[in-house]
This record gives sequence, C-alpha cells and structure tokens, in this order.
Amino acid sequence: MIDTKKIREDFPMFKNYKTMQGCRFVYLDNAATTFKPYEVIKAGDAYYEDFTSNSHRGDYDLAHDVDVKYEEARKTVADFINARPEEVAFTSGASMSLNMIAYGLSKFLEEGDEIILSEAEHASNVLPWFAVAHQKKANIVYVPLTKEGIVTPENLEKTITKKTKIVSLAHVTNVLGYVVDIKTLAQIAHKHGCYFVADGAQSVPHMPIDVKDLDCDFLGFSGHKMLGPTGIGVMYGKYELLKQIDPLLTGGGMNSRFETCGNVSYQVPPIKFEAGTQNIAGALGLAAACKYLKRVGLENIVEHERILRQKMIEGLTHIDNIILYNENADTGIVTFNIKGVFAQDAASLLNSKGVAVRSGQHCAKILMDFLKTDATCRASLYLYNDEQDIEQFIDACKNGGNFLDAYFN
Ligand code: ALA
Repeated sequence: MIDTKKIREDFPMFKNYKTMQGCRFVYLDNAATTFKPYEVIKAGDAYYEDFTSNSHRGDYDLAHDVDVKYEEARKTVADFINARPEEVAFTSGASMSLNMIAYGLSKFLEEGDEIILSEAEHASNVLPWFAVAHQKKANIVYVPLTKEGIVTPENLEKTITKKTKIVSLAHVTNVLGYVVDIKTLAQIAHKHGCYFVADGAQSVPHMPIDVKDLDCDFLGFSGHKMLGPTGIGVMYGKYELLKQIDPLLTGGGMNSRFETCGNVSYQVPPIKFEAGTQNIAGALGLAAACKYLKRVGLENIVEHERILRQKMIEGLTHIDNIILYNENADTGIVTFNIKGVFAQDAASLLNSKGVAVRSGQHCAKILMDFLKTDATCRASLYLYNDEQDIEQFIDACKNGGNFLDAYFN
C-alpha cells in the first residue's frame, strides 16, 4: 500500500506551491505532467554542479565519468521496461520518439500501403503518421472503437488488410484511459506481417511494462509524465529494427564517418539516434525517476490509482449534473463534463476551489467527434494523490450545477 503522507514529503511542490485562494491544492493533471521528487531534481542538478562535461566525446577523466553515468542511466531506464540498453535511445519526449519511429518505418512504406491508428490517439501518434503517409502516398485507416471507445483485437483483425504495413496505437488512451491489450494486438499485427508501434506515454508511468512480453516493435514515452524532467523521453525499438531504420536527426555524435562526396556511416543503435549533445541531466533525472517508481512499486501504484479512481467515480455518479465519459476505464484518468457548463469554465470553477484538472480536447482532437462534444474536463491521478484530494474534488464538482453562484461565491 502507498503511504501518501510520506510520499508527498518527497515532492517540493506540495510544500512550495500555494493556491491564490489560500485553499489546499489538489493536483489532478498528472496525465499532462507530474511533479518531481527531490531525488530526481538532485540527479539533474548534480550533473550541472558536480560533473558537467559532454558525453561520448571527451578523453579526460571527467568526460569518462559522465559517459559511465549516462550509460548507467540508459541501463536503468531499459531495465524499467525490460529492454536491453542498446534498444533504448534517449529522445526529447514521446512526441519526438513517435516522429522518429514514423520516419524510421517510412522506408518500408509504398504507395497505397495502410497505416492503422485509432480515433482515440493523441496528436503525437497521429500527426507523424499523417506526415509519412503524405510523403509516401500511403493511407491512414482507423480501427473502429467500441461504443465505450476501446480498441479491441476483434476490430483490429477486421481492419487489417493485405495493404496494412504498420499498426500504431496508444497503450493507454490519454482521454478515455482504457488499457489497450497491446500484447494481443501486437500478435495480430505480426501475424499479418505488420510492424506494431505502441505509444506508452500514459502507460509506462503507471504500470509494470515488459516490452519483451508485450512484443511491440517500438514504444515511445516521456520522462515528465513519470516523475522525470521535461525534455527527456525514450524510443524503444527491437535491436534488429533499430539497425534497419534511418535516424530522423543526423549530426554530431551519431556518425562514425562522413566524406566530402556525401558518404556517411552511422554509429550502431542507440547512438545512431542521438544526434547532437544530449539532455544528459534529463537522462540522469529520468533514471532517478525510474528508481523511485520501482521502489514504490508499479503494482502498488496500479492498486492505489484503482482505489482512488473508484472513489472518484462513486462521488461523481452521485452528482446529477455530471456527464461521465469513461466510467468503466481501468486507469486513473476520469473524463467528464458538468451539464450545461463549458469544460474550460468548469475547470476554472474547480481551480477556484484549489483543484487543477485539464480541460479542452487534450490533444486528441479527432476523439471529440466520437464523444459528441467539443471539449471535456479530465482528472488524472498519480501515486501522491490521496483520499482528501478526491473529497475536495467531489465537493468542488457538486457546486457545478449552480455554476455561476459557485464560481462567484
Ligand atoms: N499529452 C498530455 C496530455 O494528454 C499533454 O495531457
């Protein structure tokens, strides 16, 4: 079980941030980004304060120390998802990872080929595919969602054709919060000779991930949604595939040789994908975040979020004016509207009660047609949320029916 009182002491934000209203602060926007514990902040600071030098370039002791620490960080992050270190390239975040994967796989696409996505995807797992589809004259096809908004193996099986080359889906969708059965979907994709890409931005922070077991070909995720720094993320790929695909970014550090005539040879993966000076402090911070999450226990985090989610759903279903969009989802993402109140106004109302939620389209713009709404509010949980947060959130939502009175009182 998670001792939230103790956990919260590890996060300076709970001590330092004061709401303008002077009330207790409830942070429920963890799907957007998370707070950072002291040890993550210190891991990044230590790089700047105690051992700054570039990585993989210098021939002096300090540079060697940084190389060792940077590669140790890679190993820690690889272990976190049960990958080999050489299968993990550091990127600036999930968006960059998915852009790199889409570009890398585009060399296998021919005119008329199909790329399967779903309408529940975040922009980062749609727009890079639009770009390569446009370039290669390939087609984007959407696997139909169930009535609830879930991607199922049956629907993927029905959607794949002889022309399908790539299937790219979120492991956990960022608005509806359903856990997609990646393992079965990857099996189906492979059976049809397709590559399977998983967007792990909303899953890797919240549950144990074993890429070998899931058997996805590629996985992208961000550090900042899992207690790590902003500006750091991961592109995982099976080593054989990383060897075959081309890097989106080229430049210093990633090449082994280039000549005036244009001949270039690249380093082996993962260095091939790390052009330019890397976010070394970010990598060290992300490794510290992985260690922190492992110590707490990913299974404990799953259970903690399940209990809080249940409490949140119970509270919301007892309020007449709440529309819930994902009552039966299995993660800490709860998406809702207050009847007759525009989502951004509802979020402002909650803010006035010290509660931070995200409102709008959550970068999943094509999902809004499916939900038949312009915008929603999204509350998203993490390991440091507690029962008091849920009570304060529910109390604030109760005032939503009488929106104007509640807002101005
Ligand atoms: N991808 C982040 C979200 O879903 C920003 O909120």
